[in-house]
Amino acid sequence: MVNDYEKVKAIVDRYGGKHDSVIAILQDVQSEHHYLPEHTLRAVASQLGLPLIQICGVATFFKAFSLKPRGEHTVTVCLGTACHVRGAPAVLDEVKRQLGIEPSNTTDDMRFTLETVNCLGACALGPILVVDDEYQGQMGSRKVKKVLNKYKKTPKDRRHEEIAVSS
Ligand code: FES
Repeated sequence: MVNDYEKVKAIVDRYGGKHDSVIAILQDVQSEHHYLPEHTLRAVASQLGLPLIQICGVATFFKAFSLKPRGEHTVTVCLGTACHVRGAPAVLDEVKRQLGIEPSNTTDDMRFTLETVNCLGACALGPILVVDDEYQGQMGSRKVKKVLNKYKKTPKDRRHEEIAVSS
């Protein structure tokens, strides 16, 4: 945890300790842990000289932040109307089957967290599956296993080179 305090300090310093950089600071802290552990929120509050309740308020207001441990990869299935009519429920069922979890949960090995959203603003590409920041358009249930297997096998820092899902 001392190490984490130093990491948080380095992040806060990177933003010049500016109070209006709280969101960016929390994003960087979350990228280290995949969520915001309590001790890191305390460290951010201490480093910025702000009340902990203010930092917690920001962390709980934005859906992008999680106070619960999350997997290394976030798998998001869009269930908005356009994706829904093109087969998103079947895609979600297959993702649940492959990962063995329901939405808002994380696999026991902490590799994957499953989420759903109501629209990603790219309806023409639906149904859409997103793994971390990689959009997979025109997804079908038969493609799901192939996509997830690549993330299971590929270290995160190499995935951009190797993820290429063909239909
Ligand atoms: S409904 Fe899925 S991107 Fe809009």
